[in-house]
Order: sequence, then structure tokens, then C-alpha cells
Amino acid sequence: MTALEDLFPPLGLTVSRGPLEMRGITDELLVGLCDLAAGGIHDPATMPFYFPWTDAPAEELRRNTAAYHWRARADFSVAAWDLNLAVLWDGRLVGTQGLSTSDFLVVRTGETGSWLGREFHGRGIGTAMRRAVCELAFDHLDFTEITSGAFLDNPASRAVSAKVGYRSNGVRRLPRRGELALNERLVLAPEDLVRDPDPLRVEGLGPLRRAVGLDA
Ligand SMILES: CC(C)(COP(=O)(O)OP(=O)(O)OC[C@H]1O[C@@H](n2cnc3c(N)ncnc32)[C@H](O)[C@@H]1OP(=O)(O)O)[C@@H](O)C(=O)NCCC(=O)NCCS
Repeated sequence: MTALEDLFPPLGLTVSRGPLEMRGITDELLVGLCDLAAGGIHDPATMPFYFPWTDAPAEELRRNTAAYHWRARADFSVAAWDLNLAVLWDGRLVGTQGLSTSDFLVVRTGETGSWLGREFHGRGIGTAMRRAVCELAFDHLDFTEITSGAFLDNPASRAVSAKVGYRSNGVRRLPRRGELALNERLVLAPEDLVRDPDPLRVEGLGPLRRAVGLDA
């Protein structure tokens, strides 16, 4: 009988190390993520995201968060795929880690993006999950580069990027809530990745590699 992960291989992926576990986002995990997002991701006075999706009222934010992940599933293709993983810490759902690509088989690069429920900030989880997704990308998904971006007034995200080994790749001027905001582009080369000495455990990789066109 067909399993759900046969239809959408990211659902069969598990990446873990110590208290960290990252998994494909099932609908059950998605409901938890919607509640986590509605509970607050950042100080409302600031806006860390390009698209200010967290400005929506709680009910709308829940629905939008679900729709975003359902859309990513529906749009998943070799030409453009996003790997969105639920992040659990000591078994508790705390946030998401994403990796977004376009024309991956040609360009071999992708952009990381992530968030944690506010109560889980500042405990090293953001660093652990970013490091893990970068190791997954370089060691198991044949990436040759990873990018990210952070507004200059987002010190936590910038600190995580620096600790993981990303380098600055210029500053862009972007509109944010109708005003100018400076956004630093970041780039990570495999040789710059600051790895965790403990090995990463990866399960369910084969079907994902095939789904993104890496293996026949
Ligand atoms: C960005 C985010 C995922 C980081 O996760 P985290 O678990 O809080 O990060 P960590 O605890 O691993 O590391 C945070 C680092 O930022 C540093 N930091 C946090 N606030 C800081 C500040 N105001 N000034 C300077 N450094 C700061 C911490 O000192 C820490 O570095 P250290 O370990 O060297 O001391 C999380 O803060 C978050 O979800 N933020 C809201 C959403 C977001 O900004 N997403 C990224 C969009 S680009």
C-alpha cells in the first residue's frame, strides 16, 4: 500500500543529533507549528522576515502558516523544491528549518531560512539546526553552496550564520514595512562549514534524493 512519504518523500526524512531532531512536516506537526507561530516568533517591534507574514492576527497567521507549507508540498518539483523540516528539541516541537532551491541540478545552491517559537530562542537550538541542515545539504544532497540573508538588525540570525561559517556577500537595500532596511546576503562554502564533532544521523534519504533528481 502507498504510504504518504511515497507521495511526498520529505515526510520520510529524519535528521538527528543529540537533543535535536528534524523531520518532514506532517499535518500533525503542522498544527503544532501554526500554534507556535501564533504564540510569537519575535518581538513585534522588529521584523526579521522579507515578507512580514508574522504581522497577521493570530487566526490568520495560523491559516497562512498551514497554507504556506501545503503550497510548498504541492509545488515540490525537481525544478524548484523546498525542504521544510519541523525542529524538535528533546522531543518538543520548537520551530522549523527550511532549505529553498530553484534549478538545483544546475546551480547546486539553496537558501536556508528558519524560525523558533520565542520561548526557545537563545539556547543554541538555532545554531544546532542550521549546522545540521548545512551538513545534510553538503554531505547528503550534493550542494556546493548555501546562501542566507539577514537584516542588519537581526543579531541572533547573524550570529548563527557567523558561527556556522557563512561569509558576508554584500548588503542589499530592501523595503520593510514601507521603510528602508539593510539586508546582508550570506554565503557558505563547504570548506567554511563549522561542523559539529558528533555525527549527524540521517534516515529516509534515498527517496528524497530520487525526488529531487539526484539519483535515477
Ligand atoms: C534566528 C534564530 C533562529 C536563532 O536561534 P537561537 O536558538 O535563538 O540562536 P542560538 O541560541 O543558537 O544563537 C544565537 C546567537 O545570537 C546571539 N545574540 C542574540 N541576541 C543578540 C544581540 N541582541 N546582540 C548580539 N548577539 C545576540 C547570541 O549571543 C548567540 O550567539 P552566541 O552563542 O555566540 O552567544 C531565532 O532567534 C529566531 O527564530 N528568531 C526569529 C526569526 C528569525 O529571525 N529568523 C531568521 C530570519 S533571517
